Amino acid sequence: MRKLLNKLLIKFGLLLTKAPVLLADHSLKTSDMFPAQLTESVSVGQAQDTPDNELFRIFSADSDVHKWHHYFDIYTRYFERFRNRPIRMLEIGVFRGGSLRMWKEYFHPDSTIVGIDVDKSCQAHEIAERNVYVRIGSQADPDFLDTVNREFGPFDIILDDGSHKTHHQILSFGALFRSALKEDGCYMVEDVHTNYWIKHVDSPETFIDLSKQMVDMLHEPYFGRKETEFRHGHPDAVREMDLSYLSANLGGISFHDSIVVFEKKQRHLPKSELR
Ligand SMILES: C[S@@+](CC[C@H](N)C(=O)[O-])C[C@H]1O[C@@H](n2cnc3c(N)ncnc32)[C@H](O)[C@@H]1O
Repeated sequence: MRKLLNKLLIKFGLLLTKAPVLLADHSLKTSDMFPAQLTESVSVGQAQDTPDNELFRIFSADSDVHKWHHYFDIYTRYFERFRNRPIRMLEIGVFRGGSLRMWKEYFHPDSTIVGIDVDKSCQAHEIAERNVYVRIGSQADPDFLDTVNREFGPFDIILDDGSHKTHHQILSFGALFRSALKEDGCYMVEDVHTNYWIKHVDSPETFIDLSKQMVDMLHEPYFGRKETEFRHGHPDAVREMDLSYLSANLGGISFHDSIVVFEKKQRHLPKSELR
């Protein structure tokens, strides 16, 4: 009922969210500040080749896994550094279990791979003797996520490939980033193109909206300050400042086609030096 109501509200432009504005009009709206040479339309064709990396070869050798081809270069770019030691990975969304087997093959053999899914039949994809575990519950249930974290976490990598509902992506990130992701860990949300598809938008702001806000949060230390407050040895230099937890623990955010990546790193006050 709520879904139907939301759909109607969205259709008539009444829901107080930015997303329907984007969704109602299928064309891309960009600022007038962009020079025309960057916004004029150019033609893009299909890729001729498949990704040339080990993970794609592992993917191609198995079945029952659903991934977009262009993700493999992105996975390789962010996950390669975790391969030389046993890690703990949490994947939201098990489906037919193929991706859990793929991660198991790709990462160090002593790694623990945990998949969660609302679909009870996914339990069959657990391979406990190889440290591949499945737990049944919703990514929108913080208590369930906490139980999984207490049993297997904290994790080096968390990959959200679950319901792709914006509300769920936001809830899971909120419940997991602080307590379930290790320092130097990587939180990846995939298929965020769904944030532009009406049936997946069920929150006033999308996950992409929040991710853009996190770009501002990265720069929170600089709000209302001047450069000398960060300058090494300067009398104005601040020694300490209060920041939001995210600002204080976000090493970086990367946006790719359909994937957002958050790297967790405890930050120190930025320091400049004039030599
Ligand atoms: C895209 S599939 C996962 C694909 C799998 N990771 C792969 O690469 O082959 C999405 C999965 O999310 C599960 N799902 C849907 N809603 C969920 C929720 N609220 N919590 C956890 N999993 C959910 C579905 O049952 C489905 O198996």
